[in-house]
Amino acid sequence: MRCEVFSVMATIKVTQPDGRMVDVIQRRGHLSYCYGACCCGRTDRGYAAVPVDTYKGEWLKRKLRKVVHLTKGGCLGPCALANVASLEFDGQSVFFQSISEPSQIQMIFDYIEAMVAADRFLAPPPELAAFTFDYYDWNSRDQRNGDVAPSGAIGSEREVDTDAGIERT
Ligand code: FES
Repeated sequence: MRCEVFSVMATIKVTQPDGRMVDVIQRRGHLSYCYGACCCGRTDRGYAAVPVDTYKGEWLKRKLRKVVHLTKGGCLGPCALANVASLEFDGQSVFFQSISEPSQIQMIFDYIEAMVAADRFLAPPPELAAFTFDYYDWNSRDQRNGDVAPSGAIGSEREVDTDAGIERT
């Protein structure tokens, strides 16, 4: 899939502390992937390599530069799920785990292009679902604070790996 028509880009003026005005092109989203922190991509520690060239190559080839920003960054938090990537799109968040093959990254970009074409956030497609998880509690907080607790969320015994930020029930 290739998106021929992108939605109109919005530009905002941001006033800096010194009074200068800077034009900033707003994006639909942001894809970040972890590289070279404590786990993701650390082949010297036994973790799978991160296909860095595929991320940048797909991003440029699909001309998404002004639609979804791409960042090769440091630790995103859930290190035990290396290799990790995070996508924010239209105010929604999707985290990806165990992303170590170029084909997986191509599927992530297919997913992004599908959302751009649909002009809205979409749930991850079935072929990516097994590699996604919620890192933020945005979608579960209301349930936890309300009358109905999701199974395993409250009152269950949990083991917390504070280094990796991962809980196991
Ligand atoms: S080292 Fe990759 S998420 Fe922490």
